[in-house]
Amino acid sequence: MHPDTLAIHSGRDNLGQAHVPPIDLSTTYRTPDLSAATASIDSMAAGGLPAGGSIYQRLHNPTVARFEAAMAKLEGTSVAVSYASGMAAVTAALLAAKMVGQHVVAVRPLYGGTDHLLASGLLGLEVSWATPHTVGEHIRPDTALVICETPANPTLQLVDIEAVVAAAGDVAVMVDSTFATPVLQQPARHGARLVLHSGTKFLGGHGDVMAGVIATDDVWAARLRQVRILTGANLHPMAAYTLHRGLQTLPVRVRAAQANAQVLVRRLLAHRAISRVRYPSAPGCDPKGLLGRQLKGPGTLIAIDLIDGYHAAQSVMAAVGLFTPAVSLGSTDSLIQHPAGLTHRIVGEAAQREGDIGEGLLRLSVGLEDVDDLWADLDQALNRTVELAAK
Ligand SMILES: Cc1ncc(COP(=O)(O)O)c(C=O)c1O
Repeated sequence: MHPDTLAIHSGRDNLGQAHVPPIDLSTTYRTPDLSAATASIDSMAAGGLPAGGSIYQRLHNPTVARFEAAMAKLEGTSVAVSYASGMAAVTAALLAAKMVGQHVVAVRPLYGGTDHLLASGLLGLEVSWATPHTVGEHIRPDTALVICETPANPTLQLVDIEAVVAAAGDVAVMVDSTFATPVLQQPARHGARLVLHSGTKFLGGHGDVMAGVIATDDVWAARLRQVRILTGANLHPMAAYTLHRGLQTLPVRVRAAQANAQVLVRRLLAHRAISRVRYPSAPGCDPKGLLGRQLKGPGTLIAIDLIDGYHAAQSVMAAVGLFTPAVSLGSTDSLIQHPAGLTHRIVGEAAQREGDIGEGLLRLSVGLEDVDDLWADLDQALNRTVELAAK
């Protein structure tokens, strides 16, 4: 079925007479049949599903399972495993990788939190930093995972998933596909074994729920579920319900926000305050021709480099009225933020340089407002930087 249909109908099997999925808030379940319950425990300890019925919410929850089933359908994988946040999902993937080997390869730029977690050494993994073109040089016998983001946060760098998968050989590749959503990109179809989303962004879509989810195969799902049981970073059933509901409008939201972004990009490209616009369909941003082949549309995020650097960025953040100056993305409303000072502050100057994250870079998450209202807001804020520079 078409993704628009899957987004609405997935995860809704066996609803009985109900029209929408019920929310199951039980933290524990009655287990009068001890041998069936023990079978469930054994199955879940091995990373499987509750063979003999539910036991305890940290082990398995039916509302959460419905959201996961829907995500797997949308990504074209057999299963998905969800977490309390995107960072909990990244952490779980890295701990699951530790069951395979002690080394990971990471392609910069990555979301600041992911970069920092890897660089901190907190999880005891050895990390090699790579560009999309040097992944193969870093693969070792103990490499467990290759991690990349495409489009990457915050520069919108596009990574050729098939090329990275080929360079990784037998090693699993995890793609953080948060910026693309399953509407615009399905990394598993290009060979990625793990597809990660911060569900906090487009999947919920209204800026009011935190989540992380990894769509994957049965082998990695077993490891990921084991990590979740052990570490307890579960998605709450209320959050799972909200996310599952959000999926129904995901394709419509993404397409409408993308149409707005395309109009804004055309106008930004001609603006005198800007030296560069980074957007998958903007000049020079897709040297490998991935748009159409891997990424179905350019999406809703735009990065702009301001001619007058940090001071101009500071002035735009203060001058916008309709755009909210705030981190995060993928909501119905438009947001603008300064990666070097906020989301990627923590990675430090060297990683910022390596990731091409300058002091004059602003990242825009375009929402569903009227595009002329958005432009009027941006234009006046950008013009102010030019007037300031002239003083
Ligand atoms: C690309 C990407 N991955 C992961 C995360 C982490 O997600 P969360 O904030 O839900 O923990 C973020 C957050 O901004 C992100 O942008």
